[in-house]
Amino acid sequence: MTGDILKYLGEKEYISGEVLAQKLGISRVAVWKQIQRLKNMEYEIIADQNLGYCLISRPDLLIPQEVQRGLSTKYIGKEIFYFPELKSTNIIAKEKALHRAEGINEGTLIITERQSAGKGRLGREWFSPAGGIWLSIILYPQLPPFSISRITLMTAVAVVKAIKMCTQIEPQIKWPNDILINEKKVCGILTEMIAELDIINWVVVGIGINVNVDHQKFPEDIQANTISLKEVSGKEVLRVKLAQTFLQEFEKYYDKLRRKEFSSILKEWKLYSHTLGRKIRVDMGERIITGEAVDINEEGALVLKKEDGERVEIISGTVS
Ligand code: BTN
Repeated sequence: MTGDILKYLGEKEYISGEVLAQKLGISRVAVWKQIQRLKNMEYEIIADQNLGYCLISRPDLLIPQEVQRGLSTKYIGKEIFYFPELKSTNIIAKEKALHRAEGINEGTLIITERQSAGKGRLGREWFSPAGGIWLSIILYPQLPPFSISRITLMTAVAVVKAIKMCTQIEPQIKWPNDILINEKKVCGILTEMIAELDIINWVVVGIGINVNVDHQKFPEDIQANTISLKEVSGKEVLRVKLAQTFLQEFEKYYDKLRRKEFSSILKEWKLYSHTLGRKIRVDMGERIITGEAVDINEEGALVLKKEDGERVEIISGTVS
């Protein structure tokens, strides 16, 4: 209902309670109650006895009515489950993905303002206070399981594009999925899936962007390697706009992936790469390899040239 009232509530112009009540088919008292609810959600609304109500400003909250307003996607974000706080958007998204048959469509989002148990790669914690963008996207790609790395790489390209478009900052990508600014991490991507031998059942792509998080608030052990967009740009970044731009870019690149146009995505990934051409060390859990990062192949694997000249393809690992 608050969504309906927002459609009619004049932005920077007045609309009377009576007209609102008529349009919505409810009483004037019910209109007043909805207005109070909106005010509690940080919408700034003024009321004039003669003129009625006027919307002065909207909150920069990632609530569905704000994220979907003006969102030009076909299917990403058409359905949004929003929570002011939860443990982890990936956990909820995975539960929902299991209910595909019950109408959980491709592109459904789980969004929250803060996570109490955000998940990072390799079982790490992901610090997710208010001020960031923490969301997960449910996908049902008709693709073989090895495409999972491609989905992670294309997501990274979509994040970089969105940050560039909204802030003019030029982030880089550290293989496979860290987005860096000035060598510090500003965004992480956690891609999880359930697959059979030759086909993916579902994928959940979790994206965490440090947007307006203050540096002092990061836990001490990650402070030195972490950064937020607010810190770099010196002012708050509009999260709703950034989320919308990211979702639009994400859909564009995901459609390309489905049309088997990964090569062109990979080209862009390489343009933004922080990894290629560097001497690196890759920790793969049971062993560590060092060498020069020379390429990313069509499967999204990192190609490393060792000191003895041998080339190794690495599917997963932590680069330093
Ligand atoms: C990484 O370790 O770099 C991946 C971090 C991914 C964090 C995001 S925040 C939204 C989604 N929900 C989670 O619990 N994790 C991902």
